Amino acid sequence: MSATATPVRLGDYRPPDWRVTDVELIFDLDPAETIVEACLRVVRDGDASAPLQLDGEQLELLSLQVDDRPLEADAYRLDARGLTVFDLPPAASIRTRARIRPAANTALQGLYLSGGAADGFLLTQCEAEGFRRITWFPDRPDVLARYTVTLRADRERYPVLLANGNAVAAGDAGAGRHWARFVDPHPKPCYLFALVAGRLERIEKPFVTAEGRAVTIVVHAQADAIAQCRWALECIQTAMRWDEQRFGRCYDLDVFHVVATHDFTMGAMENKGLNIFNSKYLLADVDEATDEDFRHVLAVVGHEYFHNWSGNRVTCRDWFQLSLKEGLTVYREQEFESDVASRTLRRIEDVRTLWRAQFPEDAGPLSHPVRPAQYSAIDNFYTATVYEKGAEIVRMLATVLGRDGFRRGLDRYFERHDGQAATIEDFLAALGEANGRDLSPWLAWYEQAGTPELSAEGRYDAASGRYALTLRQRLPQAAPGRPLPIPVALALFDAVAAVWRRERKALRRSRTTV
Ligand code: SER
Ligand code: ZN
Repeated sequence: MSATATPVRLGDYRPPDWRVTDVELIFDLDPAETIVEACLRVVRDGDASAPLQLDGEQLELLSLQVDDRPLEADAYRLDARGLTVFDLPPAASIRTRARIRPAANTALQGLYLSGGAADGFLLTQCEAEGFRRITWFPDRPDVLARYTVTLRADRERYPVLLANGNAVAAGDAGAGRHWARFVDPHPKPCYLFALVAGRLERIEKPFVTAEGRAVTIVVHAQADAIAQCRWALECIQTAMRWDEQRFGRCYDLDVFHVVATHDFTMGAMENKGLNIFNSKYLLADVDEATDEDFRHVLAVVGHEYFHNWSGNRVTCRDWFQLSLKEGLTVYREQEFESDVASRTLRRIEDVRTLWRAQFPEDAGPLSHPVRPAQYSAIDNFYTATVYEKGAEIVRMLATVLGRDGFRRGLDRYFERHDGQAATIEDFLAALGEANGRDLSPWLAWYEQAGTPELSAEGRYDAASGRYALTLRQRLPQAAPGRPLPIPVALALFDAVAAVWRRERKALRRSRTTV
């Protein structure tokens, strides 16, 4: 999807010339033909001569207006990749109407149909670049806007209508159709947009956050699967409480929806207030599921929920920073499972994943840094390196800073960058400044590919009573670079040696007496 001939380079990053402050979307939903009306409030934030460039793919333009007036043909350019609007005032509203075809969307990016035309439901997947298949928009994570979304659909076929944020109004739309409106007060990048419409069953649970907000947690699935969602509902509640207690992060909307589908390209997706899951990671049949299945649901449900802060409230400036949200969220997920299930089991599994998936990836032709310097298609970068190695870097930082220091650093990061699109440098700076340390050498971990090798040689000189430990770090020949900071835990087991000597003597004595 969206493969470009010319690679995108981190070094070419430029802030957007235009911001979008508010978005109003109105969907007339239908699997064959959906009409999307979008009104973007745009504000110039850069070069006065820069036209407004909106990404858009596989969209059929029905109408285009600027400040409620139709545009002359030479005031804009439309092509297969998007829409460019010239000579705009410094602030304007851009209104477009587009036709899209969800049932024909087999890429499962943008708006699509899960299941058959008669009994299926409509849903979206926008990370990384799916929103451009829904409407024209600056489809980049550093454009954060407030969304108001209205959904209209056939009441019989699509009784449940969901979008990000809080439901604010609903009603009858005539001709057998109904509508519902949602407002998401938190500015977000468009990759976190989501909607769901269909015949879904629900189970729910009330939750009161540590800040006193009354939240309803709702899990939705089709009728044949809803009975298998009880465990997931429990896990969400556990995750919400854990993130409050361990990291001081509370949920921030009145409702938290989770939806299960069989048709999904990723494991799950952290859309703001409306997480969507591949059924495989949400359903657990109490009669059949193993302990491992239950732990997997716990981990993935936790992962998506934790993104609400590490990913959503603080997002990525560009897709090169993907590990900023994924490495950190995998780390948070690991800690969650370790605290509420088994630390030992989870660690064994994580090290096994590193050895079996990430080390080979890093030693082979697909080796890339946790923060790559360029890509042709960002979809190819959802890798063990970005996720698992990224999480290990965060784990090393947490080791170096200690539990309280890491918490202090993360608090600083969330407070400083709340509502912003951040970089790995921002993350290291916040962690470092909150602890009076310079963590900039850690950037090498993000920029250099390959697995370093550490060798240790210990020597004890009994005469002088001195112990010397020599550590050597070797970077892979294929990926040379700067030395990497590596925390090493060290313990001298003098007492154990003494116990061992005593045991050995006792053993010898017992042998001679037999
Ligand atoms: N953002 C998604 C996740 O990792 C993509 O899989 O949770
Ligand atoms: Zn994730």
